[in-house]
Amino acid sequence: MDNTIFVRELKNQTERAENIVMKYLPDPEEKHQHSVIEAMNYSVTVGGKRLRPLLMQETYRMFRGQDEIVEPFMAAIEMIHTYSLIHDDLPCMDNDTLRRGQETTWKKYGEAMAVLAGDGLLNYAYETALKSFDLIEKEGLAFGVSSETMASRFQSCAKALSVLADKAGIWGMVGGQCADVEAEKKNLSLSEEELLFIHEHKTAALIQACFMIGGVLAGAGKRQIERLEKIGYNVGVAFQIRDDMLDVIGNTEELGKNVGSDAKDGKQTYVTLHGLEQSEEDEKRLTEEALELLDGLPGKHEFMEELILSLLGRRN
Ligand code: IPE
Ligand code: IPE
Ligand code: MG
Ligand code: MG
Ligand code: MG
Repeated sequence: MDNTIFVRELKNQTERAENIVMKYLPDPEEKHQHSVIEAMNYSVTVGGKRLRPLLMQETYRMFRGQDEIVEPFMAAIEMIHTYSLIHDDLPCMDNDTLRRGQETTWKKYGEAMAVLAGDGLLNYAYETALKSFDLIEKEGLAFGVSSETMASRFQSCAKALSVLADKAGIWGMVGGQCADVEAEKKNLSLSEEELLFIHEHKTAALIQACFMIGGVLAGAGKRQIERLEKIGYNVGVAFQIRDDMLDVIGNTEELGKNVGSDAKDGKQTYVTLHGLEQSEEDEKRLTEEALELLDGLPGKHEFMEELILSLLGRRN
């Protein structure tokens, strides 16, 4: 795909994903919940690349084209990702003050409200994803869809919810953050296996969820979902390797977050373990493997290919 076409398409798709996420945010006009909703919406609206909803939307499109059904899940994954960032920035975790180019949620609203905003977003993510059932019902009634087709679509939504829950919780992101926090206390060098466990779980798990949910909702088969999970692993681990590199070689202006945060916390990262050169090589190798796996899937994947490639050497 021509680069100018890709850049234009990326802008369009990001805007589309952004609008979907915004559409599903809660209304802050509530009397008693106003503060928590304001803090939730602040952290989501303040910025971010929207990579996860984009990956989900594009995976769905590869298998089935465009459909509203995937939209509640696109919003949900961005809510879960944002909650993970709010909690990750807390003083008891990475203790950071800048995120998405603005003050972190705890810095702006205080620690208690930041904890609640994270909790609120996590729960609201599931409230939002569940709206996909209403969409199926509405569409079914409007177009006279057979009860068998409706049942199979409900089943796909239930499966997608189960992937989301699995990849966001103790078997996924939360498990990775747990190992990350524990590793910080260790003075001994982490093993290759321990570091990969952290990167796979704290970061790749949610990215795997995007590929898998896109596929599940679009009716992809078991083998294809397994392949999507592998692609998500490669893209996700490569993404965290680059994140570790950017903490050393990036600049605050472009990144919108504090650089040198890992060193400040005495964290062992892909860079402290392998050095910058090896990190870059591994990022590239994982990306190339992801593209080979992508090749074996049906549908057109030029945009997905370019999207994955654009993460190599990214600056934010
Ligand atoms: C940051 O994710 C946290 C990691 C998992 C490395 P992103 O780099 O996708 O952050 P936003 O969403 O663009 O702010
Ligand atoms: C965070 O990893 C992964 C999450 C689950 C939030 P980092 O702690 O390296 O992410 P940044 O650098 O703060 O965005
Ligand atoms: Mg962290
Ligand atoms: Mg952090
Ligand atoms: Mg980081």
